[in-house]
Amino acid sequence: MSFLTRRKPIDGHVEPGHATLKRSLSWPHLVALGVGAIVGTGIYTLIGVGAGLAGPGVMAAFVLAGLVCVFAALCYAELAAMMPAAGSAYTYSYTALGEFIAWIVGWSLLLEYSVVCSAVAVGWSGYATGFLEGLGVALPEALTKGPHAGGLFNLPAVAIIAVVAGLLAVGTRESAAVNAVLVVVKVAALAVFVAIAAPAFDAANFTPFLPFGMYSESAEGAKLGVLPAASIIFFAFYGFDAVSTAAEEARRPERDLAIGIVGSMLICTLIYMAVGAAAIGAMPFGDLAASKEPLAEVMRSLGQPGPAAIVAGAAVVALPTVILAFMYGQSRIFFVMARDGLLPRGLATVNARTGSPLTMTFATAIFVAAIAGFFPLGEIAALANAGTLAAFIAVGASLIVLRRREPDRPRPFRAPLGVLMGVLAIAGCGYLFATLPTQTQIYFLIAQAVGLALYFLYGVRKSRMA
Ligand code: ALA
Repeated sequence: MSFLTRRKPIDGHVEPGHATLKRSLSWPHLVALGVGAIVGTGIYTLIGVGAGLAGPGVMAAFVLAGLVCVFAALCYAELAAMMPAAGSAYTYSYTALGEFIAWIVGWSLLLEYSVVCSAVAVGWSGYATGFLEGLGVALPEALTKGPHAGGLFNLPAVAIIAVVAGLLAVGTRESAAVNAVLVVVKVAALAVFVAIAAPAFDAANFTPFLPFGMYSESAEGAKLGVLPAASIIFFAFYGFDAVSTAAEEARRPERDLAIGIVGSMLICTLIYMAVGAAAIGAMPFGDLAASKEPLAEVMRSLGQPGPAAIVAGAAVVALPTVILAFMYGQSRIFFVMARDGLLPRGLATVNARTGSPLTMTFATAIFVAAIAGFFPLGEIAALANAGTLAAFIAVGASLIVLRRREPDRPRPFRAPLGVLMGVLAIAGCGYLFATLPTQTQIYFLIAQAVGLALYFLYGVRKSRMA
């Protein structure tokens, strides 16, 4: 069979042994899982980067990115309920679009999941540095930022990655209970933020609403305006896809996965609207853009050091769980790809004692730390977004193909609008991809070229389907 036509059968994804995974999660757990993976550096830090690109129009960027994610989330929900199997977008693509596209999607997911960790670590570093300063501990400035900002490297970002990788290596899996507590911490801190910032709302901070228009270019050729901001703010919304990876542990996957995916997504959109409006209303966007810990900065500017410490403390405690969730997710994707023969099985070997793939965890940590140590947050987030957008486009395409090819297959959850929903997801994600920084698009293509070289040197022959 040519590699272009190799497809996984729609049934029989479940690996032997998985039948024994306990179905212990119901929809509130799944919603919490989603919110836990979604709320992170996006709302806590990238809101500042977005404000720098679009001014107060970052609010419009939130709406746009959120809308695109709703389309993608609905497609995910249909596919996850239909094929509750490990591997997420990679597995859906393998079934619907064939091995070659599935490889590109899997490679994109590896890029997404690892680079997200770098981005969240850099966001965490901003809050941790500020938090320590509040306690009277000042790190040498050169060790708090990369060379792009005149420093040596970002030590706190590297350190938190080492800690999380260490936790994974000893076999820590964030339990649903711990996750629930941290979700409450993160969301409660955002509620405190809104409660204090909202009364300071000054409509003057919203004019001009679109200082850089929907799309414009700076003198240096950088993309500015609402659309480029949306392609960065997109970062804040994903993580709902992580819910689909719990497919085999859900009590009633056919109903609860859709609730978990779409529900967590909608809850976060509402939270973001409130936080965004409160932040922009309370502070000129230029100050917001200049801060490495924008939400804490807003609190301080309002003369509220206590709440500033609460917000920063919540970020310090809770953001690492986003890193944990994505590093764990990455090891699962790696595992499924290796099981399919597309990557060397040895690499994904799971340590018998800890249940985690040690080699890959450490290799990932070194790669992720190198990026986090030396690059600016905006660039890292943009690269993670490129991988995610590619995966979301494939999910939209998989929905369309399977509606055509398998019209009568039971779909416990059907995305409204059907095929059109797939088209909307593809168009929305494609548009956001087009407005990413040109340099990011080039990095993405280079990464894909490396991936394709690997595929043709290895996976194409070693594939289990070959
Ligand atoms: N949505 C996640 C965050 O904002 C990736 O940190």
